[in-house]
Amino acid sequence: MSLRNFILGLAASFGLAWLCLVIIPFVKMRNLAPIQFNKDLDGAEGVFYPKRGGRIANGARVYGENGCYLCHTQLVRPTYAGQDMHRPDMGGLQNDPQRGDTRRETNAYDFEGERFAQIGSARIGPDLSNVARRFEAAAAVKGDDNLEAAFYAHLYDPRLKPEQAKAICPSHKYMFDEIEVKGQRPDEAMPFGETETTVLVPDADARALVSYLLSMKKDQPVPAALNFPFAGDKQPSAK
Ligand code: HEC
Repeated sequence: MSLRNFILGLAASFGLAWLCLVIIPFVKMRNLAPIQFNKDLDGAEGVFYPKRGGRIANGARVYGENGCYLCHTQLVRPTYAGQDMHRPDMGGLQNDPQRGDTRRETNAYDFEGERFAQIGSARIGPDLSNVARRFEAAAAVKGDDNLEAAFYAHLYDPRLKPEQAKAICPSHKYMFDEIEVKGQRPDEAMPFGETETTVLVPDADARALVSYLLSMKKDQPVPAALNFPFAGDKQPSAK
């Protein structure tokens, strides 16, 4: 084989991979057209728009900068590619007290407002697509609804609780400032890590990140046009 053919072949195979894996998905997902609910199929009307509140863009930046995506995915896979829909509380709650079964797969709209879809590169820790729902459910069981504090405590030190002494999620103590208390205790003081004279307050990055984590409950119903119902009696019949 001549060197020229070799180079051309190499260029063609890289070019094809580049086209299929990068260019085509980019063009398809760059401008997502709004998807309508269908009254007959979905029992709902209007445009689908994933509801998320909080500092999404800033939080996503902090999430990326700290490499959370190296160990955490944000991808509830379709069942042909994995068991996510059947693992308790990963794809949504199986028994949401108000709405019943809210599990669903991730779709491109879930990353609206973020610069990158941080689907993650490995699943060393749990998938975080619905981490806020899981924290809510756990808090409800304990009768404690301070979700923010639970997330801050995890960020500060995932090993704070004795039952999590072996957790391997890294601590992010540098996102907290130790400030001296003179007189009244500041409102934003954390319920952990205080000494007689100092308390911990989260910095701007920690606040943005926790706000982002609190927005991670991507289990609203999606139009049938976007998601195949997956489980039990909702499964599309094999024709
Ligand atoms: C080295 C891998 C690694 C990195 C990096 C990492 N985590 Fe984790 N994370 C884990 C593991 C593993 C767990 C499961 C519990 C444990 O062992 O700590 C976890 C658990 C969690 C949980 C609790 C999830 C649940 O369902 O209870 C949250 C929230 C979380 N991590 C957030 C983050 C955030 C935010 C970042 C980035 C600032 C991050 N993690 C970076 C490995 C990691």
